[in-house]
Amino acid sequence: MGFKHKDIIALRDLTKEDIELLISTAESMREINSRDIKKVPTLRGKTIINLFYESSTRTRTSFEIAAKRLSADTVNISPSTSSATKGETLADTALNLLAMKPDIIVMRHAVSGSHYFLSKKIPCSIINAGDGAHEHPSQGLLDMLTIKDKFGRLDGLKVAIVGDITHSRVARSDIQGLTKMGSHVFLAGPPTMVPPGVEKLGNVTVCPTMKEAIQDADVVIMLRIQQERQGKTLMPNAREYSRYFGLNPENLKLAKPDAMVMHPGPINRGVEMSSYVVDGDQSHILKQVENGVAVRMAMLYHVCGGELAE
Ligand code: NCD
Repeated sequence: MGFKHKDIIALRDLTKEDIELLISTAESMREINSRDIKKVPTLRGKTIINLFYESSTRTRTSFEIAAKRLSADTVNISPSTSSATKGETLADTALNLLAMKPDIIVMRHAVSGSHYFLSKKIPCSIINAGDGAHEHPSQGLLDMLTIKDKFGRLDGLKVAIVGDITHSRVARSDIQGLTKMGSHVFLAGPPTMVPPGVEKLGNVTVCPTMKEAIQDADVVIMLRIQQERQGKTLMPNAREYSRYFGLNPENLKLAKPDAMVMHPGPINRGVEMSSYVVDGDQSHILKQVENGVAVRMAMLYHVCGGELAE
């Protein structure tokens, strides 16, 4: 059974089978990344535009490396050097790029839902590299692959997500993906940073304290406070935040002894996590980054129809 979607905008739109297919393709793509010559002809002749309206280190580099490993041609555009600074609308930028016949546009944008808007206007594939506080599907997929690497499964796991849930597109994609795959997600954060009604997204429990969320957890995912999306600050100060919602070697002991610690990056060391935990034995943070390349190779491959170049 193949992948039927032209775009990947949100894990909410994918079935459990779609997610399984993307993860298993990423597992096989990984082998290419450990070769001496890390390149296959799979997407030869395809053109991919990375259109990033927001800052990015990991996601943009990872999509570019993924495309290059599959032999696609890539072009990167950032707003500071594009005509967005001259007042061009998103739709006009997209239509102009489309005139150059790209096969995929990978876009990051501050406006939630901007990818749905574009996908109605342009026929080429669109991959969401993060839209506002809505979704970040490649991060959700790479998180699931990293968890599956350790436990061999995703069902029946207790996954705690701690921090600024309201403004986190990573949290939304993780919740959508993990609950579809059978995990139980426990959330904790300051009341101003937990959206009302989030339990309705699936097998999700909102905990009054961080302690309850991480108690006996298999996985602890920590989030950065998305100050850039909050408008006004929603917490008294970083020290107080860290006292109630920061992960340190002491409170990590509440989780299962072999619990894995994850973070999408960028990390504010000493705020949401102590350096002991970031660099500690239970941290899988760099493994997430490593898996990101294979996951993005799988996404590019499947939106292009999942066929090999001759
Ligand atoms: C996240 C993002 O941009 O949503 N980072 C990432 O893509 N790895 C999380 C964040 O910015 O805190």
